[in-house]
Amino acid sequence: MSRRAAISKPEHVSITPQRMDFAFEDVPRHWFRNDPVLTHFLNALSLTFPDGERFFVDAVRAFRDQVTDKTRQAEISGFIGQEAMHSLEHDSFNDMLASQGYREEAEGGQKLARHLIKQGRERLSAKQQLAATAALEHITAILANRLLKDPALLESMHPSVRALWIWHAIEEIEHKAVAFDLYQDVVGSYRMRVRTLLAATLALGTYTGKYTWAFLKKDGLHRRPLVLARGMWRLFGINGVLTRTVPDFLTFLRPDFHPWQEDNSALIAEWRAILTAQGDVPETALPTAQGQH
Ligand SMILES: [Fe+2]
Ligand SMILES: [Fe+2]
Repeated sequence: MSRRAAISKPEHVSITPQRMDFAFEDVPRHWFRNDPVLTHFLNALSLTFPDGERFFVDAVRAFRDQVTDKTRQAEISGFIGQEAMHSLEHDSFNDMLASQGYREEAEGGQKLARHLIKQGRERLSAKQQLAATAALEHITAILANRLLKDPALLESMHPSVRALWIWHAIEEIEHKAVAFDLYQDVVGSYRMRVRTLLAATLALGTYTGKYTWAFLKKDGLHRRPLVLARGMWRLFGINGVLTRTVPDFLTFLRPDFHPWQEDNSALIAEWRAILTAQGDVPETALPTAQGQH
């Protein structure tokens, strides 16, 4: 590898996949702050995860043989393992949504996500797929940071699903630089990375908007202006869930951006300790043996 980013993952952060096997029991329909819009926004995102994360894994795998550094190879193995586990857990979360009465929405949403990702695989070059992965990993990392930085937000999630979102958020932060570092090493184009971020944001925004709406429609809440306005304010108003990610989102546009310029490793250590203390994270993790994937 000719180039290494000046900034890299803190050494004490390990990228270690864990099998969780969450059982989602007695999940209320509006499990996030008792708010249909917030809940369905995350439900819609979850529909994209199983296939989306498989896309990320394949995009990274396509270039991993160009990485000679052993530490970086181990990080890539960790990334692949973590994303594979996320796909499994969100598969079962999405099955739970179907069993809650949203079968049509859950199946339709996953089918559309699969179709869009298939188009991406066919139409984008391998380098563009890696750029899309780095961009979408930036989006997931800043959303993860937003969730973990706001305990009140997490407290407002029903306990039956809270651990899933905390665990996923922790791991997204742990591996937030893997796809980015690989992109910088094997592609490196600033223009492609910025263009792809804008396109990926537009695509993901359109998709989540469409499926948030579909879930709301199923609830018969799509014509309830007060419910919609309150939810939109909680997403896009001052201090909204998404509004407060905007400064972090924009950091990606800096030519010298690196995901670990913001060292939020203390945050993930804190939440991992909380999950472990609650018995939500098994003490023994799956190994990240090099070359395992
Ligand atoms: Fe993930
Ligand atoms: Fe990820």
